[in-house]
Amino acid sequence: MNKLGVLLSGRGSNLQALVDAARRGELGGEIAVVVSNVEGALGLERARQAGIPAVFRDHRGKPRESYDTEIVEILRAHHVDLVCLAGFTRLLSPVFVRAFPGRIVNIHPALLPAFAGLDAQRQALEHGVKVSGATVHLVDEGLDSGPILAQEAVGVLSSDTPESLAARILEAEHRLYPRAVHLLLEGRFRIEGRRVIVEEE
Ligand code: GRF
Repeated sequence: MNKLGVLLSGRGSNLQALVDAARRGELGGEIAVVVSNVEGALGLERARQAGIPAVFRDHRGKPRESYDTEIVEILRAHHVDLVCLAGFTRLLSPVFVRAFPGRIVNIHPALLPAFAGLDAQRQALEHGVKVSGATVHLVDEGLDSGPILAQEAVGVLSSDTPESLAARILEAEHRLYPRAVHLLLEGRFRIEGRRVIVEEE
């Protein structure tokens, strides 16, 4: 059974979507551990509720690389073979990225490469795009810059606020993330340059 490690800093609704998909047998793996850099993160509580080991590790006052090494050790101790970032607010150092080559995924609330970084839904709204959405991508050493695994578009309405747009994008995220993780775990793809080519059954 594939083992997933989920890193988060907050609410954990994407973790919940992964937990629910795993329960339905739709993920192709099980979540072995959830790690957060925020002690009171709701996502840690969701993990505990689901019977998943939930670990808090404070990053404050630690050099980035030693913090990342600690997290890698926790993931290895739980035999994790795929790392899912789900609202983890820290940029991973090369030490981390190289520890799981091609085995780290992230979900971002915009259609990358547009609106990378923080507050993507507000960036999209303020830019005036008519369509935004969600992206699942492999993580490399840049900011939201790795090869794209899956995307779902969400229309922007004239009446939207950053909050209402974020809420609709979040619904798309919850559909998209489990599907993309499943695809990755099945290994039905190859990478050519930046392109992730899905091999149809
Ligand atoms: C999501 O919008 C995700 O795309 C972004 O951070 C947010 C996390 O939300 N990376 P949640 O903690 O999964 O509810």
